[in-house]
Amino acid sequence: MICIYCFSGTGHSRAVAKFFSDSLKTEVTDIALEMKISCIESEISIVVFPVYNGNIPKPVKLILPKINSKYFVLISTYGRMSTGNVLQEGSKLVNGKVIAAAYVPTGHTYLDEPAEFDSEILQTILKRIAHPKEIIIKKERKGVLPCIFPNLRSRISVRIHRTDDCNKCNLCVKNCPVKAITDKNINKNCIRCLRCVKNCPENALSVSFNPLLKKYLKNKKCTKSKIFI
Ligand SMILES: Cc1cc2nc3c(=O)[nH]c(=O)nc-3n(C[C@H](O)[C@H](O)[C@H](O)COP(=O)(O)O)c2cc1C
Repeated sequence: MICIYCFSGTGHSRAVAKFFSDSLKTEVTDIALEMKISCIESEISIVVFPVYNGNIPKPVKLILPKINSKYFVLISTYGRMSTGNVLQEGSKLVNGKVIAAAYVPTGHTYLDEPAEFDSEILQTILKRIAHPKEIIIKKERKGVLPCIFPNLRSRISVRIHRTDDCNKCNLCVKNCPVKAITDKNINKNCIRCLRCVKNCPENALSVSFNPLLKKYLKNKKCTKSKIFI
């Protein structure tokens, strides 16, 4: 049995997870804090998640050790800036053998870029899934920035405001993967994934960025896919 788990703020990782779910005819389970794992003891688990500030997003970090699986495939989407060392870090958290992993460059959340990706390397991974074999993921240079209060940096650089268009439908409260939104405000648990902004039916959540962040993001630093197989 193959299970697919996905954490996705704005749909980029979801698009990659959908590639696997279409190819393998399996549903995708969304990762959120306090989620219940529906597929217990699966043969293979595919986990798709984005790089956030050179790190694994918090809900994914918490859920990875709880998935029981003989084999794991780890896929991390990223906005062509930096990958950190998330795949090796993820491989240390899982209870099972990692048989394939890949960094998949795609659009950046904060530039509102489309969720396009190169499916060729994912085809290679599908072949590996058919013939599992354990791999070792080498440690990558992470740099210092991801280690310096990553969530705080996001909170300072990205501001989310509720506007008067809010009709209090509470969809943002329900959709928030880290339970950071109450009916009154957005609290410090917010990881700036922008799922609330993307899914608001009234466009009542507006987002503003520090100009330095926007400038930094324009200079794409690493654009290649990287596969471990
Ligand atoms: C909070 C946050 C931090 C991010 N940090 C990085 C990063 O360190 N390096 C990078 O290349 N992209 C970064 N991105 C961009 C995302 O990794 C990328 O757009 C990803 O595909 C988003 O996937 P999603 O739509 O499934 O959440 C970041 C995005 C967010 C929201």
